[in-house]
Amino acid sequence: MNDFKRTLITTALPYANGPVHIGHLAGVYVPADIFARYLRMKGEEVLLIGGSDEHGVPITLKAKNEGITPQDVVDRYHGIIKKSFEDFGITFDVYSRTTSKTHQDHASAFFKTLYDKGEFIEKTSEQFYDPKAHQFLADRYITGTCPHCKSEGAYGDQCESCGTSLNATDLIHPKSVISGSKPEMRETKHWYLPLDKYEPFLKEWILEGHKEWKSNVYGQCKSWIDMGLQPRAVSRDLDWGVPVPVEGAEGKVLYVWFDAPIGYISATKELTHDWETWWKDDSTRMLHFIGKDNIVFHCIVFPTMLKAHGAYNLPENVPANEFLNLEGDKISTSRNWAVWLHEYLEEFPGKQDVLRYVLTANAPETKDNDFTWKDFQARNNNELVAIYGNFVNRTLVLTHKYYQGEVPALGELTDYDQEIVQELTATKAKIEKALDGFKIREALFEAMNIARIGNKYIADCEPWAVMKTDPERVKTIMNICMQITANCAIGLAPFLPFTSQKLQGFMNVEELNWSSLGGIDLIPAGHSINKSALLFEKIEDETIEAQIQKLLNTKEANKAESQKVEPAKANCSFEDFMKMDIRTGTILEAEKVAKTKKLLKLTVDTGLDKRTVVSGIAEFFEPEKIVGQQVSILINLEPRKIRGIESQGMILMAEDADGKLMFISPTEKTSNGSIVR
Ligand code: 2FM
Ligand code: ZN
Repeated sequence: MNDFKRTLITTALPYANGPVHIGHLAGVYVPADIFARYLRMKGEEVLLIGGSDEHGVPITLKAKNEGITPQDVVDRYHGIIKKSFEDFGITFDVYSRTTSKTHQDHASAFFKTLYDKGEFIEKTSEQFYDPKAHQFLADRYITGTCPHCKSEGAYGDQCESCGTSLNATDLIHPKSVISGSKPEMRETKHWYLPLDKYEPFLKEWILEGHKEWKSNVYGQCKSWIDMGLQPRAVSRDLDWGVPVPVEGAEGKVLYVWFDAPIGYISATKELTHDWETWWKDDSTRMLHFIGKDNIVFHCIVFPTMLKAHGAYNLPENVPANEFLNLEGDKISTSRNWAVWLHEYLEEFPGKQDVLRYVLTANAPETKDNDFTWKDFQARNNNELVAIYGNFVNRTLVLTHKYYQGEVPALGELTDYDQEIVQELTATKAKIEKALDGFKIREALFEAMNIARIGNKYIADCEPWAVMKTDPERVKTIMNICMQITANCAIGLAPFLPFTSQKLQGFMNVEELNWSSLGGIDLIPAGHSINKSALLFEKIEDETIEAQIQKLLNTKEANKAESQKVEPAKANCSFEDFMKMDIRTGTILEAEKVAKTKKLLKLTVDTGLDKRTVVSGIAEFFEPEKIVGQQVSILINLEPRKIRGIESQGMILMAEDADGKLMFISPTEKTSNGSIVR
């Protein structure tokens, strides 16, 4: 398929504003690591590049909320993230960060090259500005109602409910995240990457040249291109990021999505003097492993930057995955709806491969998938323990029992033995075909078939029974079982590296290479194996129930948080309270106030008089349905004009945590004008 001499694998740089969870692992890092390990085992030259994305608004917001600096935030999480990846055996050749000096310099120089080549459009436009906080409101500094799905709390760059990517000016009722105030429009200058100019190139390169890309990736690119590409701003008014390296750009930094992918280049530069071979030599194949929310940046924006620069290779493939949900709900950092990697390892020490296995077997390759603790348990108990662990254990135990741990010689092969050998060889080809096509989940299934083949072989051959009648035959059976065991260790190594390491220890072999996969000459007769133990342990119901309970507790806590009652106000004096004249009254008439959504004009009999009150209850009550309703009314509130109508008092309402309004009425009908106190 390729004449490439080496492969550069990049993995999306996670934002350093929180730890990493199973969604990260399943979508990006485990598949990328499997692929890198596979190529290395085949003897290919490969680099696996990673790092933390340490710029952008979410990080500055977190710092603001915690009263610390953005640098403090990224220092804390970069360490946690890096350790989680190491713990799970993600074999990065380099794991860098975008606050490194090399990166700052490289990103700055990259921008300057494009700037000097006249590749940017310089444009002054009106953008939201917070007059109280004295700053422009980039991306997530602004929230409002999504113009598409109408959900509240959409950000200036994206609505998380419907996933639509937005411009801040699209938001309905925009609000500053910093001060809560309504922003105003002010002029500011920015630099734009003219994606429209590169549209013909992108059409040709992706839509014609890369039809082999995964359909979810190709489809998303096509729909972006079909909608027509617009110039995209690559700078922001912010004080956290790589400064825009041109005169007159004080207070402006590179947009995080401009500098982050350049992070792949700077990380390579930190790793090796030979970085240009990996980025500029066309015998290098570049692959970006990412999640689906990053597709547009890696398939359209970054390639345009690389093309505009002119010196770099373009990606050969972008095998993006969809999302992993958790127990039916979207994983969410802010709602703590996640299985955090560092917590998993505290609760399941030494079980990295179990998680790697479950996340790969259930990888969201073509559609969103769900992680459930029951499935985790079932895959461990019914697949890892019952198939792989069981076969290996039987083989090792019987080799000790019959031959004191010395691998017996292979005799003449029966037809059935030959069939098994052919199946092993065919399995190798199937694993490779799946991996080469980025079907990692299918590749794992094929690799597990080696253990399935072994399990079936040992069960069919029944060496424990044959031992009584034909001990010579048992030597061949057990030799083949040992070869299949070694095949498991190789074929499953990219997926379950910790297990393969352990198994090689049991088998007393240092290294097994990919080219010997599929054969039955991996372990010589007479070789002594070591004492062994179980490869996997059963996971009990109580353990799983505890995890489910933990999630239920999170759900409860989130619910309680969303229903939190307002804290009590400061005390007021009895005299102040007595100043209020509250009476019972009855609504005589009600009508909507024209051109408003919330206001009703009410005529109320207060027992003393009939008066007009304007009340903000129209979203909850039909005017005709509340005529005759008895209410409590504050009658000595200063009259005030609302929408040109003089309102003479206030109807008292109870508002629940969801914002629903209810009247405060006497429990029995009483005469209007009764005093409330
Ligand atoms: O979506 C994210 O988490 C981004 N931080 C990914 C950046 S990928 C690359 F461009 F660095
Ligand atoms: Zn929306």
